[in-house]
Amino acid sequence: MLCFPKAKINLGLQVLRKRPDGYHDIETVMVPVSLHDALEVTKTAPRTDIRMYGTDLFVPVEQNLVFKAWKLLADRHKIKPVIFHLAKSIPAGAGMGGGSSDAAATFVLLNNFFRLELSNDVLKTYAAELGSDCAFFIDSKPALAQGRGEILKSIELDLSNYAIAIVKPLKMSDGQTGISTPVAYSLVKPDVARIPVSEVISLPVSEWRNRLINDFEKPILQKYPEIVGIISKLYNAGAVYAAMSGSGSACFGLFETKNPTLNFSRDFFVHIAKMQ
Ligand code: C5P
Repeated sequence: MLCFPKAKINLGLQVLRKRPDGYHDIETVMVPVSLHDALEVTKTAPRTDIRMYGTDLFVPVEQNLVFKAWKLLADRHKIKPVIFHLAKSIPAGAGMGGGSSDAAATFVLLNNFFRLELSNDVLKTYAAELGSDCAFFIDSKPALAQGRGEILKSIELDLSNYAIAIVKPLKMSDGQTGISTPVAYSLVKPDVARIPVSEVISLPVSEWRNRLINDFEKPILQKYPEIVGIISKLYNAGAVYAAMSGSGSACFGLFETKNPTLNFSRDFFVHIAKMQ
């Protein structure tokens, strides 16, 4: 059984307040894009293993969100150990939800593989236990996300006419390969009194620039000037709107042309996607 867990981008992201549980209440719009991993469950086995292709080859299996999703279902529904094959294309530490999408896909796959007949709502509750943006990937449909990011409202949004250029530095100026989400949250000053993302998003895309704001950008752009360079390059190449996705470090540009001409060196991951 095979599936293709998609990546997401965030259109605007407001960090509203810090919560007593240590998380932050946010408001953001999440949109699935065609950049995806591939995840297969092949057979039951004496112990669960993940055969990795692409990146993260040396990360212990138990730390992978796919394993954590299997473990959660094994604890609650007594499913057997299985063998997974996971081919990674979504970069890690990018703000594109790669690990969360793999975990959500694991719930959906195992629900079918073991005929558990769990509803999507139950799968979303399980997903939210593994990560704040994980529930989004159960349906992978454009949604306004609130709370920690797990309270989802479906929205109508059609970006099918845009090419979505995704650009991420392979290495940050501090030597890291991506940005850690908790570190990014620690740099933001929450602020509640603003025009909600849900309102700004209803404007035409051509009016999003300077209105649709990702709160992570200000502190992250200060710490990593290379991100400023990516966003201005995307605008110079003709993007109607460009921003960082989530807590970074991936940025994206929306282009009205099918094949935007981008001029990034081999030090960058570059991918032209479509909205899914
Ligand atoms: O839920 P997730 O595992 O993605 O969160 C990773 C970390 O990011 C949390 O431990 C927390 O520090 C921070 N976070 C937050 N508020 C959110 C989501 C994440 O503070 N809404």
